[in-house]
Amino acid sequence: PAEAEFMNEPVSDFSRVPVRQAMAAALDHRRALLGQRLDVMKLALHPPTGPDLSSFNPSRPGELVSVVSSYQPPDVASLVKAAERHADAWKERSVADRVAVMRKAASLMRAQRWELAALEVYEEGKPWREADADIAEAIDFLEYYARDMARLDPPPHLGRYPGELNELYWTARGLTAVIAPWNFPLAIPTGMVAAALVAGNPVLFKPSERASAIGYQLVRILLDAGVPKGLLQYVPGGPDLGRELVISAAVRTIAFTGSKDVGLSIIEAASTLQPGQHVVKRVIAEMGGKNAIIVDETADLDEAVTGVVQSFTSYAGQKCSACSRVIVSDMVHDAFLDRLSDAVMSLRIGTADDPATQVGPVIDSRAKRRILDYIEIGRREGRVVVDRSTEGPGYTVGPVVIADIEPNHRLAQEEIFGPVLAVMRAASFEQALHLANGTAYALTGGLYSRSPRHIARAREAFDVGNLYINRAITGALVGRQPFGGHRLSGVGAKAGGDDYVKQFLVARVVSEQT
Ligand code: SER
Repeated sequence: PAEAEFMNEPVSDFSRVPVRQAMAAALDHRRALLGQRLDVMKLALHPPTGPDLSSFNPSRPGELVSVVSSYQPPDVASLVKAAERHADAWKERSVADRVAVMRKAASLMRAQRWELAALEVYEEGKPWREADADIAEAIDFLEYYARDMARLDPPPHLGRYPGELNELYWTARGLTAVIAPWNFPLAIPTGMVAAALVAGNPVLFKPSERASAIGYQLVRILLDAGVPKGLLQYVPGGPDLGRELVISAAVRTIAFTGSKDVGLSIIEAASTLQPGQHVVKRVIAEMGGKNAIIVDETADLDEAVTGVVQSFTSYAGQKCSACSRVIVSDMVHDAFLDRLSDAVMSLRIGTADDPATQVGPVIDSRAKRRILDYIEIGRREGRVVVDRSTEGPGYTVGPVVIADIEPNHRLAQEEIFGPVLAVMRAASFEQALHLANGTAYALTGGLYSRSPRHIARAREAFDVGNLYINRAITGALVGRQPFGGHRLSGVGAKAGGDDYVKQFLVARVVSEQT
């Protein structure tokens, strides 16, 4: 049957009383469940043998969110065996069947969206809007990749040569390991897992240690929707478990989103042939960014200030898409900086469960320390113009703006993953572009300008995977802004775009003389 056209799941309008009440009720309900132990055996066939993983509320670090038993490297052999037992049956299910399961999962998620968002508020310290948008994006990935797979079946005919029938068959590549981050704790794993599953592969899914509880919910929903237990396995654990999954001879595809260093180590480990391995592993790695927004002398400064502030402070700067450098034309630099400072001073910092909070906590104490270290480096390298770093509860680091940053400074080159903005000056638009492109990353970028010439020049020369003109640079939407970078920002097709699912498939061409 023809699938209805894809539409992005709308985000919630919390200005409406019933919507606000629904979210508040979910938060109350979730609060009553804090400290809960998750029963892995409800989702698994093989019992975990590792130590407990606990997650804590970043807004109130004393508050235990959930506890789950983890897996260890020696468990991987049994996990792989269970996955392989289910592989053929799933691969042989019709595409229409697998598509229907994904769409069922989307509808289950829709029905539980407040509960899921509330869990992210507590487990990842996501403020309401951010948590809500993450659930909406997860639903989008299920719906989008389902339709994408449906388009590859039946096999397309190639060419029109008389007497010859050429068909392109897309078949599952095989066992996929998904190694997921905590910053979009439902959306990103849902995207990677759904693409692998709908393509017909078994999946071992390792959530981030800081997102075990929401990862559990993802697997529960997919099993409820009809994915066989064992085919998809919830595999919480630490970095040593991740490494074992990567090097397992049976794992053929690794879908990873996270830091550049971990991504590069996965690519390296995956390239070593293991005994019994009969396939070159494919690694899809979405890594970091050091994203810049250029503000030129023609920009609407009100718009620019709003967009920059949103891009560097939303979810406390913990998005790979976040802005961490703003490059401002000399001609408007001082005026822009004044207005930016006022705007940052007016942001409301607080706990993630307070609907008024604009800047919530960062994920954990390690992240907080790392960000504070960078702020110290920034103090030496540049001139601090706003410093709210000591404000806020729990693991919060309030926003900081540091001006006079030069291209060779660490604040101009290294990903910080926190609400710290480096301000750089440019004498010309060409210099601004040169500065923007002057890092090893190429993920997102932005331009505020009213000059058609500058906009045209940025289109051709601003070297990033996702360029945004006269708008904020985070919040790519599935289908509308397929997302992903190049250079050291990652390898693989864009998430939420037409080529993504194909990465989990092998293409076979069959030609018949007729
Ligand atoms: N897709 C997210 C965004 O665009 C980042 O992963 O903000």
